[in-house]
Amino acid sequence: MTTLTPGLSPQETAAATTPQGGPALPQEIRLVTEVPGPRSRELAARRTAAVSAAVGSSMPFFAQAAGGGVVVDVDGNSFADLGSGIAVTTVGNAAPAVVAAVTEQVARFTHTCFMITPYDSYVELAERLAELTPGDFAKKSAFFTSGAEAVENAVKIARAHTGRQAVVVFDHAYHGRTNLTMAMTAKNMPYKNGFGPFAPEVYRAPLSYPFRDGLDGPTAAARAISLIEKQVGAANLAAIVVEPVQGEGGFIVPAPGFLPAIAAWAKENGVVFVADEVQTGVARTGAWFASALEGIEPDLVTIAKGVAGGLPLSAVTGRAEIVDAPVTGGLGGTYGGNPLATAAALAVLRTVEDEDLLARARQVEDVLFRRLRALAARDPRVGDVRGRGAMVAVELVRPGTTEPDAALAKKVATEAAQRGVIVLTCGTDGNVLRFLPPLSIGDDLLEQAFDVLDGVFAAS
Ligand SMILES: Cc1ncc(COP(=O)(O)O)c(C=O)c1O
Repeated sequence: MTTLTPGLSPQETAAATTPQGGPALPQEIRLVTEVPGPRSRELAARRTAAVSAAVGSSMPFFAQAAGGGVVVDVDGNSFADLGSGIAVTTVGNAAPAVVAAVTEQVARFTHTCFMITPYDSYVELAERLAELTPGDFAKKSAFFTSGAEAVENAVKIARAHTGRQAVVVFDHAYHGRTNLTMAMTAKNMPYKNGFGPFAPEVYRAPLSYPFRDGLDGPTAAARAISLIEKQVGAANLAAIVVEPVQGEGGFIVPAPGFLPAIAAWAKENGVVFVADEVQTGVARTGAWFASALEGIEPDLVTIAKGVAGGLPLSAVTGRAEIVDAPVTGGLGGTYGGNPLATAAALAVLRTVEDEDLLARARQVEDVLFRRLRALAARDPRVGDVRGRGAMVAVELVRPGTTEPDAALAKKVATEAAQRGVIVLTCGTDGNVLRFLPPLSIGDDLLEQAFDVLDGVFAAS
């Protein structure tokens, strides 16, 4: 069935279907007004009057439609999307299989609350995630709505299982904005500033950050383990929570051997090893889960973002005996595993398989590395190019140093939006540009977006 796109004739709509079968929007960068255009400016004025100033938006325009690799704004401008709504629309925005599954479900029932009247899609999703997460052992899942909620629940589960309280997280970590996850998140501004007191029993260890510490993985792990043993003590430690590739902290890929050494130490000491795969999970890095690429089998994995194609769903999936540890009724929530979200998630997982999106993520990785390494070769402000799959970043520095250049990252992201490309920044120092295109983006559009970025760098 062809879905009509506002502003397009049926013929134009049909012609605009992407090779990946994505939604029918012309796959092009097209600016028809200044950015932001008049309708976006009008909405921005209403927003300023009605929406909390504490909720920020990086783009100055309002969305009207999105699909394939583009976001179209309310003025008819079409932007190449290199952000996927922060790593969420991995299978594409309004991906046809997700739209069909949610449409079918919404007409049957919207909610019963799994804690009241259960339904099959919740169970099927738990079965699928048990198969897809790393590790050949019995696994179970519980579902929630946000990534932060999944992380909170992973900690609850680890505490119930171990009878211990302490939690170790790492430098540059980002785990969310709730009280416990604020404590677990490293960066103060803007996530924590003025919001304390924070949850106790959270300890921070040094990460492996090859660009900045120059340590090999085992040495960096020994440094972290020494600190954990001295400052926390294994006997008090419930869980170690780590992102296999750090997201908001700057797309930091730890040196090889770092994560396996930490995981092995956790195992020897009865500590629950939690991989926070909220950003890296579900095909984003070219594997179902990035832990597999690091050769680790986490006890628990937290999953959100890309798993449900834009519907709010998160999960804790892991060793059955650990996930079963809390008392019955100890986990849950009114909307956790809502039927629209579980239907969407099952459609996302099918789409990853049907369209071989793991391979597509690796192809996207090739394009991102080729373009960004070429940029780094001619521009000394690009200090490092790193990442995995369709999750790649450049760290910007003052030439000849490792001194962060946050102003340049901001300038490039702002100017890229003016020229029709959505790019996000991240990093504890705000000096990282990150690239997270949806896997439904076509190669032509991806290359065009990087042509635009080359121009922005040359002019900045
Ligand atoms: C690794 C990681 N954990 C947790 C979160 C929090 O997820 P949410 O914003 O859905 O609460 C994020 C969000 O960016 C994340 O990247």
